[in-house]
Formats: sequence, C-alpha cells, structure tokens
Amino acid sequence: MTEPSLLTPVLSANWDEHQPWTLDTYRRDGGYDGLRKALAMHPDEVIQTVKDSGLRGRGGAGFPTGMKWGFIPQNDGKPHYLVVNADESEPGTCKDIPLMYANPHVLIEGVIIASYAIRSGHAFIYVRGEVVPVLRRLHAAVREAYAAGYLGKNVLGSGFDLELTVHAGAGAYICGEETALLDSLEGRRGQPRLRPPFPAVAGLYASPTCVNNVESIASVPPILNKGVEWFRSMGSEKSPGFTLYSLSGHVTRPGQYEAPLGVTLRQLLDLAGGVRAGHRIKFWTPGGSSTPMFTDEHLDVPLDYEGVGAAGSMLGTKALQIFDETVCVVRAVLRWTEFYEHESCGKCTPCREGTYWLTQLLTRLEHGEGTEEDLETLLDVADNILGKSFCALGDGAASPIQSSLKYFRDEYLAHFEHGGCPFDTAASTAWA
Ligand code: NAI
Ligand code: SF4
Repeated sequence: MTEPSLLTPVLSANWDEHQPWTLDTYRRDGGYDGLRKALAMHPDEVIQTVKDSGLRGRGGAGFPTGMKWGFIPQNDGKPHYLVVNADESEPGTCKDIPLMYANPHVLIEGVIIASYAIRSGHAFIYVRGEVVPVLRRLHAAVREAYAAGYLGKNVLGSGFDLELTVHAGAGAYICGEETALLDSLEGRRGQPRLRPPFPAVAGLYASPTCVNNVESIASVPPILNKGVEWFRSMGSEKSPGFTLYSLSGHVTRPGQYEAPLGVTLRQLLDLAGGVRAGHRIKFWTPGGSSTPMFTDEHLDVPLDYEGVGAAGSMLGTKALQIFDETVCVVRAVLRWTEFYEHESCGKCTPCREGTYWLTQLLTRLEHGEGTEEDLETLLDVADNILGKSFCALGDGAASPIQSSLKYFRDEYLAHFEHGGCPFDTAASTAWA
C-alpha cells in the first residue's frame, strides 16, 4: 500500500471546500500573499527565485520557466506580454480546466507575479472557447481581482499597472501550439510560425512574449509564498516540485492526483484503486497520445522528465490514459490518428499528407484488409513525419504508431490472420 503522504495537494488543496473559486475563500487560505511578497522584491529577484526553484513548464515540454522569463529583453523600449496557454486539448489531458474552474484566483495571482517579473503591462489568458463554465468563472474572478486592486492601475499601491484579458479560442487543437495561439490572438487563422525567433524575442504583435501553461503559472504563487526550499523538497533534483497527474480510462477512480514529480504509475494506481476489477493493464500513455506509449513493463518508471525520457517516451502533459486487455491497440491508435488528421492545420506536407495516409492504412489494417507490407509502409510514413514536420503536432501523430508497433506488432498481424479485428468477436478472449 502507498502511504497517503504521497499526495501533495497544493493547487488542488481547496477543491473540496465550499465555493473555492471566490476571492474570499482564496484569501482565507493565504491567497495573494505570494503577490505581496513578489511586489516587495525587484522583478529580477522574482525571476531568480523561479529559476532557483527549478520549476519546469507543465504544458508538456518541461522547459525551465524562470529561464524562459529571463529571455525577455529588458529596457528594449517595446511592450512585453504574458500569454497563458489555457487551450488544453491534448487527448486525455484535463488538468488545467478543473484547476481554473475550482481555483481561478491562483492562476490570476500567478499572472500578476509573472507579468511584474517580465515587466509586462498586459497579460492574456487564451482559454478554450468550448468550456463556457470555465470562461464565465475566469471572467468573474478577473472582475473580483480588479475590484480588489490586484489588477488595473497601481496594483496594491506598488506603482505597477496590469491589464488582464481573457480570450476565448474557437476549439482548434493547433491553437494550443504557442505561435499558432499568438496568430489566433492577433485575429488571424491559427497556424504555427517559424521558430526561431521564439516568442520571447518576437511574440504577440512582434513584441517579447512569454507563453506559459496554466499549471506553470499557477505554481508560481506557492513558490513565492512558501519558498524555493519547500518546493525543492518535493520531486527530483532535475524535476522538482508537485504536479497534477490526470488518470483516465480503465482505472477504478479516475481523476486528478497531485503528487511530486518522480512518482510511478504503480504508486498512482494504488491511490486510484488500481485497474478496474478483474482486469490488467495492457498499455498506457504518460502524457496524452502524443507521447510514445508504455506497457505493464513500465509501471515503475519515475514520472519525471528524466525517468520517462530514459524509458523511451516523454512526460508530456502527465495525462495517464490507462487501457486494459479488452482494448484493441490498433483501434486506439486509429482513433488518435483520426484526431491528428482532423486537427492538422495543413501548413506542411509531411503532416497534412502523412496523417491522411496513416489513417487510410490503419483503417485497412483494423478491418483485416491490410498486408504485412502495410506495417512497413506505416512505419515509413511515420518516419517521414517525425522530425520533418513544421510543429510538434506531426511528431505527436507519429509517436503512437511507432510505439504500438514496437510493443504490439503481433496484434497488428493478428488482424490479417483473423480477417478483421480479433476484439470484435468471441475470439477476442484469445487476446484478452
Ligand atoms: P518546445 O520544447 O519547442 O518549447 C517549449 C517552450 O520553450 C516554448 O515556450 C518555447 O518558446 C521555449 N523555448 C524553447 N527553446 C527556446 C529558446 N532557445 N529560446 C527561447 N525560448 C525557447 O515545445 P513546444 O513545441 O512548445 O511544445 C511541445 C509540447 O507541447 C509537447 O511536449 C506536448 O507534450 C505538449 N502539448 C501539450 C498540449 C496540451 O493540451 N497541454 C497539446 C499538445 C502538445
Ligand atoms: Fe500544421 Fe501539422 Fe505542419 Fe504543425 S505539423 S504546421 S499542424 S501541418
């Protein structure tokens, strides 16, 4: 059994309280104390504190947050912008939405601290337009923050001015890619820009811009409030701190589990009641479908950037999708690939054409109409997408193809031998 102390509720600490989203509840729990401490410091000291904490971006890539803030040039005479990427849409990823819904003020406090640090006078939260309740809650919280003097002119009498705009996206996965998001925010069709220049140099309206994920920014107030040592007492040397793991699929108690970086899926499953009764884990994703999949051999891989990387995948968004032995891996990969084909923005050929061909091949294979050569074609198309596409969407589409063939080639072959999906008939038990 795993000790209950494995959980480290910080961002999720007040989710079970009565109306945790109100300013009163948030302040009663110490909310906006981190901001007061930050405003008493020089902006460079705030950046240094976040650097010292070792906080790494929680949107998927794990880029050091303090280092990203430090890239913003100073005294350049240009406006600076902070943009919060709240366009969460990676399959299985569902941490930022509940975080903003339950505790919008921790995000707003983080936005004010980050904007102060990078000397930004205008910040934006770009949120998925479909999640209307979250949008409404954010708008209400922003109004409360303005009324209380945390936003607007002369924040808490510090002389620092900040405007905060909440912007609703229109539901395109590609608008979660940071440069496509900036294009969308500027009113254009959301398509990735060439990097470099990175947004830190030329971002929103060609000005230096920090684009940070919701969870990254929400992690900043507790760091300012409780200190770097406290933050570093959790997690591992290179991946310190707490984080939200999202467990979904064939697990007894799916949901958000806030724990240190570096815990294992075995430990998280202990907390979540294990795989559903009478079944066993077959495959799982560490960070949504864009990360190579794992199997039951990987239950003890430390869920931090180094541990997952060394085992051949990526931590990504920490969306742990669990599939038991009743699931056809070919069908699961087909569903993901259809998603990427649909969401491909069409800007570059490897992804636009490649995701189309991957879907065609996988559909044929799933229906038992493929040949063994199709498996090589599948790998060849995936290889022509991976590392050769304009943005990470293409890589994400290729990852499940390669990893599923690595671990479950026999299951692909069984589709030819069976003349269809073996999971569609009584013969499925042979694969269970
Ligand atoms: P990346 O590694 O290219 O960049 C990460 C961040 O660091 C960016 O903000 C980038 O501007 C900054 N950066 C990197 N090198 C820099 C430099 N030399 N100078 C200045 N800034 C620099 O990763 P990317 O393409 O931004 O994101 C990919 C990740 O997004 C994937 O790992 C995936 O897990 C995640 N993802 C998350 C989704 C979600 O719903 N949360 C959806 C899809 C993907
Ligand atoms: Fe668009 Fe796909 Fe190319 Fe990214 S990889 S730019 S989503 S076509």
